[in-house]
Amino acid sequence: MSSQHTKREITPMHPDDQFHWRPMVADDLKAVSKLASDIHADFLESDSVLLEKQKLFPEGCYILAVGDIISGYLLSHPWKRHDPPALDNLLGCLPSRYDTYYIHDLALAGSVRGHGMAGPIIEEIAKLARSLQLTSVSLVAAGGSEGFWKHQKFRIISTADLDKKLETYGVQAHYMERSVC
Ligand SMILES: CC(C)(COP(=O)(O)OP(=O)(O)OC[C@H]1O[C@@H](n2cnc3c(N)ncnc32)[C@H](O)[C@@H]1OP(=O)(O)O)[C@@H](O)C(=O)NCCC(=O)NCCS
Repeated sequence: MSSQHTKREITPMHPDDQFHWRPMVADDLKAVSKLASDIHADFLESDSVLLEKQKLFPEGCYILAVGDIISGYLLSHPWKRHDPPALDNLLGCLPSRYDTYYIHDLALAGSVRGHGMAGPIIEEIAKLARSLQLTSVSLVAAGGSEGFWKHQKFRIISTADLDKKLETYGVQAHYMERSVC
């Protein structure tokens, strides 16, 4: 499987500003970390864990920005199906054999929610998964976000083994998958 992918900027509609998704670079990490700790106060991850994802698979990391104002981010990478990584843990490396494309986190500041800014980057991720010859995108929906993900064509998969792997994500967490064939 090849990780070749052409990066593009994706511009969703927003009533006030020209926010757009662009590839994340290492210099964005400070702002991403601040946003992550504001949005996910109950699920904090260290800067090294966030930065590692950008280093391991920059093609899968985006920010939503206007100028130098960063109001959202998405972290993702190829991974193994039904094996979500524990929260706030370094991956070390990506698996040499992977069979799903994993969204680690998608988060928007409150000020840019409700404007359909998330959908376009999820479609871009679906395209990226297909370009890697993968047939699914997976994630852990935490904090009651499963309704949003269902809206984005994901479905919950629940097994005793999977549920055990979700312990670090809190009681409301669900493993979800979407086919991208
Ligand atoms: C989850 C998140 C990225 C969604 O972005 P958003 O801007 O709020 O969502 P959108 O406005 O693009 O919603 C798209 C659609 O999903 C629906 N939707 C949004 N949240 C929903 C929810 N919790 N349950 C059901 N439907 C939901 C919207 O009504 C909208 O429907 P429409 O297209 O028919 O109008 C954002 O709310 C967020 O960052 N939340 C905090 C972080 C988080 O929980 N991230 C997920 C971690 S796994």
